[in-house]
Amino acid sequence: MSGHALLPTAAAFDALIKARHSVRAFLPQKVDKAQVRAVIESARQAPSGGNLQPGQFWALTGAPLEKLSDTIIKARALGRPSVSEYGWFPNPMPAHLKERQRATGYALYSALGIARTDRTARDAQFDRNYRFFDAPVGLVITLDRTMGAGAFLDLGMALSYFCLAASAHGLATCGIGALANHADLVQEHLQIPQDQMIICGMALGYENHGALVNKWRTTRADCDAYAYFSGFDAPL
Ligand SMILES: Cc1cc2nc3c(=O)[nH]c(=O)nc-3n(C[C@H](O)[C@H](O)[C@H](O)COP(=O)(O)O)c2cc1C
Repeated sequence: MSGHALLPTAAAFDALIKARHSVRAFLPQKVDKAQVRAVIESARQAPSGGNLQPGQFWALTGAPLEKLSDTIIKARALGRPSVSEYGWFPNPMPAHLKERQRATGYALYSALGIARTDRTARDAQFDRNYRFFDAPVGLVITLDRTMGAGAFLDLGMALSYFCLAASAHGLATCGIGALANHADLVQEHLQIPQDQMIICGMALGYENHGALVNKWRTTRADCDAYAYFSGFDAPL
């Protein structure tokens, strides 16, 4: 703890940030509503342009979560097409980004012992997104359609606070952008008003530390690849 009784030290906060990682296998242990609420409330402490606090969190557990997953997985098995409402990756993908994506995919599938060529196993693993990786809590994150692109920044900030607050509560998370591939189905099934756009999902629960899928870590580009410094006294 630092001088202020309630503030964590920078070292403790950095350690929390470094320890956070996306988790794709959870324990069946339940997360109670008070804890989910506390994490959501922390998420909403994030700054936002004009303090508009855009976005909504739809938290599901038990039967409602299971029904949503069943609905999506059944529809996918019947060949339901993707209907993502907003773009994510550039097309075509520049080589340096393609490499980051490839490295992450490679690490994930090799941790699971899935060969690049094993389409069936890869598809089955991809479907796990729609089971929220068996997390006891699944969230659907939506944004008012009338908001401008800047609101995605605000929502991203809130999601980042969400993940870190969850870590501080001993919980694990995984963002699920793949949920937006079936935005129409999610919207219809949960009867989410049409003025909301489905942005992504989020899995929340206790990490299964024994699962192979949780045993690898992503890396980050070196600071010099994306940060530019000017006017500082000492060279870095
Ligand atoms: C908004 C968002 C959406 C994501 N969507 C998915 C997803 O659909 N499936 C998945 O397995 N991981 C998903 N992830 C997790 C990323 O793959 C992960 O954050 C990234 O590879 C870095 O790894 P780390 O979180 O372990 O540091 C998502 C992350 C974010 C922030």
